[in-house]
Amino acid sequence: MKLAVLTSGGDSAGMNAVVRAVVRAGILKGCETWIVREGYEGLVRGNVDADAPSAHNLATTLDVKVRDPSFINNLRFGDGSLLRDGTGDHPAGRTLKGRYIVRVGWDDVRGWFAEGGTLIGTARSQTFRTPEGRLTAAYNLIKEGIDALVVCGGDGSLTGADIFRAEWPTLVETLRSQDRITDEQVARHGHLKIVGLVGSIDNDMSLTDLTIGAPTALHRICEAIDNIHSTAISHSRAFVLEVMGRHCGWLSLMGGVSAGADFIFIPERPPKANPWEDEMCETIHRHRENGKRKTIVIVAEGAHDANLKPIRADYVKDVLTERLGLDTRVTTLGHIQRGGRPCAWDRIWPTLQGLDAVDALLEATPDTPSYMIGMRENRVYRVPLVEAVKMTKAVAEAIENQDFDKAMSLRDPEFRE
Ligand code: F6P
Repeated sequence: MKLAVLTSGGDSAGMNAVVRAVVRAGILKGCETWIVREGYEGLVRGNVDADAPSAHNLATTLDVKVRDPSFINNLRFGDGSLLRDGTGDHPAGRTLKGRYIVRVGWDDVRGWFAEGGTLIGTARSQTFRTPEGRLTAAYNLIKEGIDALVVCGGDGSLTGADIFRAEWPTLVETLRSQDRITDEQVARHGHLKIVGLVGSIDNDMSLTDLTIGAPTALHRICEAIDNIHSTAISHSRAFVLEVMGRHCGWLSLMGGVSAGADFIFIPERPPKANPWEDEMCETIHRHRENGKRKTIVIVAEGAHDANLKPIRADYVKDVLTERLGLDTRVTTLGHIQRGGRPCAWDRIWPTLQGLDAVDALLEATPDTPSYMIGMRENRVYRVPLVEAVKMTKAVAEAIENQDFDKAMSLRDPEFRE
């Protein structure tokens, strides 16, 4: 099997551990292993002449040097210096400009599980969203002889993977009718083996307990709130923290549980009281009456009221200042939540899931579903990708329809008020 792995969408801690595990498990199980740089965008761009100066913007952002032009397996991504400053040991002077689909070996991923972000790059590809883009992506995979793909990304990326999987026979047929691939290639690539791993800080994918990167982001948030505590107490101030998570409130809720908060706004459970400002002010006033010297309010970036009107941190600050007279500051945690070294769980889970991804691909037949590998109750867990994507969409729809109980129970079947 020729196996490729890519990371897509917003980066998350643990993506490198996925790539490392997939590459190494693939090699141990007799596969040829490849990486696709810059997510689906790299799949669409494919490989142009490696020596040609590249017009692509993305290529210039990751100018990885190849040590030995004749043997791409010697590409030592893993030693860090080559990748970071681009001036490392590259006697041949050949670069990966214009090469997005690259064969890698055991050493290329050495030490990767301790690195934050994604070393093979990621993108939110617009071209892959188009049928033409996906046709080119299919062509590029077939051209390199790759017949199995691991995609590590969030719900959008896995939705893309599901579409690609469903369209694959049509794409192959179109390429054949355009004489771009041979009958032999059609026979070999009639079925795309694809597996999704959920890499996202948001923890917003249904049918998995934890997404890769969410534990690390939560640590960052917890530490940030701890730090805010001391300065807030010193001045007896209120802080409104805006926390990432897109349409999902998990990071905000767990951030509040792990480090303490007086009031938390999350999309899945908007405040019931109308107006919610009264409820928030009463709660915080009570806490202050009880002797608290500081106030922490967490606002998930996707928070809204029961009528889906967004709740913004700046507005919350104005309410606290004007109605309670609190000296209030807003802190947007931003991308410090996403970057940095993975915590232990974001090394362990991606490693176990990466191993299972390779097994799932090796076991795949045209009759087995494409899987999403997640985790449930502390075990690596496979679920048909199509079901996970469907369930995740159902959560978003329930929120749009203001059926918040349904949204909560779809996110977490064990949910009780
Ligand atoms: O999906 C991950 C995430 O960090 C979200 O929490 C956030 O809404 C978004 O990505 C930010 O995207 P960008 O890095 O493109 O600004």
